[in-house]
Amino acid sequence: MRKNSMLFLALLFVSFQLAVAQTSSLVQPDVAIFYPKDFKAYKTLPSLAVTQDVSQEKPLPANWAVKPQFLQIEGKNAVQFTFPEHVDLYGTGEVLGDLRRNGTDVTLWNTDNYEYGKFEGKQLYQAHPWVLGVRKDGSSFGILADHSWRQQIVLDDKVTFISEGPSFRVLLIEKDSPQEVMKALGELTGTMAMPPLWALGYQQSRYSYYPDTSVKELADEFRARKIPADVIWMDIDYMDGFRVFTFDPEGFPDPKGLNDYLHDKDFKSVYMIDPGVKQDSLYSVYQQGTAGDHWVQTAGGKEFNGEVWPGQVAFPDYTQPRTQKWWASLYTDFMNLGIDGVWNDMNEPAVFDGPGGSMPDSNLHRGGGDLPMDKHLRYHNVYGLLMVRSSREGIMAVNPEKRPFVLSRANFLGGQRYAATWTGDNSATWDNLKMSIPMSINLSLSGQPFNGPDIGGFTKSPSPEVFANWIALGAYYPFSRNHTSNETEAQEPWAFGEEIEQVSRTAINRRYRLMPYLYTLFQEASQTGMPIMRPTFFADITDTSLRGEQQSFLLGEDLLITPQWAEDLKMPQGDWQEISLEENTDKYQASVKLRDGAIIPVGPVIQSTVDYSTSELTLFVNLDAEGKASGSLYDDAGEGYGYQSGDYAMLNFEANTVDGEVEVHIEQTEGSRTMNRKFKIALVQDGAVTYSEWQSGDTIRLN
Ligand code: GLC
Repeated sequence: MRKNSMLFLALLFVSFQLAVAQTSSLVQPDVAIFYPKDFKAYKTLPSLAVTQDVSQEKPLPANWAVKPQFLQIEGKNAVQFTFPEHVDLYGTGEVLGDLRRNGTDVTLWNTDNYEYGKFEGKQLYQAHPWVLGVRKDGSSFGILADHSWRQQIVLDDKVTFISEGPSFRVLLIEKDSPQEVMKALGELTGTMAMPPLWALGYQQSRYSYYPDTSVKELADEFRARKIPADVIWMDIDYMDGFRVFTFDPEGFPDPKGLNDYLHDKDFKSVYMIDPGVKQDSLYSVYQQGTAGDHWVQTAGGKEFNGEVWPGQVAFPDYTQPRTQKWWASLYTDFMNLGIDGVWNDMNEPAVFDGPGGSMPDSNLHRGGGDLPMDKHLRYHNVYGLLMVRSSREGIMAVNPEKRPFVLSRANFLGGQRYAATWTGDNSATWDNLKMSIPMSINLSLSGQPFNGPDIGGFTKSPSPEVFANWIALGAYYPFSRNHTSNETEAQEPWAFGEEIEQVSRTAINRRYRLMPYLYTLFQEASQTGMPIMRPTFFADITDTSLRGEQQSFLLGEDLLITPQWAEDLKMPQGDWQEISLEENTDKYQASVKLRDGAIIPVGPVIQSTVDYSTSELTLFVNLDAEGKASGSLYDDAGEGYGYQSGDYAMLNFEANTVDGEVEVHIEQTEGSRTMNRKFKIALVQDGAVTYSEWQSGDTIRLN
């Protein structure tokens, strides 16, 4: 008897241990939150990733599928997930590697990783503590480890997050499809704001165009050669001795004049701003930063200095609310020079002479507001996010009527709220060209829809072949910018001779023709969090043969983009029809295929988005087996916030076959923006296209 009761007590104790090992609750019908038993909110919260209120406490359903096990691995706080069946894993941010992340280790520690040369490219500029899992039947889940400390994600038959920080909470999303998981992630972490339309255009950059006269010549060259482009980028050499918010008096004596010139030619300008402020007692930004006590400190409480482009610099401590405000205020005079967008770089932060290429883990961020004081180990991964949050606020304060555009190299899960991104210092190699697709897709599957690599590669000079293939593909990245280093040959579209100049023109023309469709996708992403660039398997989530396909990708739901070099391609089922967006073609152009059942709106070739209009749209139609198809168009002013008070239009297109004749019904379903529009049907069938005449009205007929 006595023995039995002892056993009973022991059992009770064991089950009690298990029961308190974690607490869980449902925060939404398909989203659960799990806390480890020793959770201390002030050590990891407030979350800089999750913006939605997750404090609801409904009981977790007994049949909830994926549950974490909190544990210690070699003395580190970890959380592990096991699965009863095979799952295909995606997400984990921008690191190098295959689309399917199964069998990969990723370290989340934002790193200036030149040529992706260190850590086999598995530790890059951004950190996304996020994994998307897709089961055989297409049902999917998302795992979000909600903290910013250095951590590792190990993906084998299990998924394990191993942190170098305190224990942390995790959020689990459970849905019927990966698409639904992406939308739920968008709800949890917030979505990209609608960018200005010009940011969707083709962009030209190099480290660095210098002096300003060469920038003007570049703009003239694009227009003379009739290669469409929207943006020219100013890299660090425009600055005076790499001092941020200054201009080189010799090379860029009149930035306002330069920007006016560019605007006259229908170009926008984006200028680089790094976080490091040159330690120079005669430099006003450094003086202000010191007087305002804005710098990140050493563990001993002294100003931390490290080397970046200008030599020794100090780093703004963006965890401090007053520093955020101060940094934001620096943009006032800067943007007033007619600057259109800002490029925040080196914000991992990169420190040339620091440990691991950054600052010591023990450095001190003093926090304030809701962010507690803590060491760099906690705030490193969100340094870039906090920087771009502040930059964005500053830019919006100067031009409240305009949509800000910020590009950032470093960021964190949720950072799509503040900035677009590119994938850092890649190389002009075949391999990097090919790997850019799974990289961009996984970034997209990690909540960042607005991304792309340096077209042509940053380091090394591309062979004409590599460049031609890259520009032919690059026209379809969500962010489409050609950029290269200061040590390389010229990489403008005409730098490789006439043939490749024409290849570039054709590819870029096609991007501009797709602008109405692309802009509609950006609007969807900004509303729902759905990626713009999607994996091919999104076309059929139950076809497991597509799960690893990483040569082709989907642009939205309706277009399948396939580079010419793709081999042994896995094609989704259905009657995908090639569409020709331009008569000119060549052996490099990526193939663009339209889904059966889809209608996409396509515009004319324009030289920049200044000339963008939706008054004449070609509707490419690929009927399904029932002779039907549908699609939509989102339209607004392309700039400003009028769309938030109704100045936009959502058009719905429905194609039917009536008595053997194809007609498309057009209906404005949302918004008060009206316009007289003309439409033309381009019916694609059996590899051929039939065009109708231009027509207006709500029903457009093929004949
Ligand atoms: C970094 C950036 C690169 C830029 C260079 C100079 O390497 O990644 O894009 O051109 O710095 O600013």
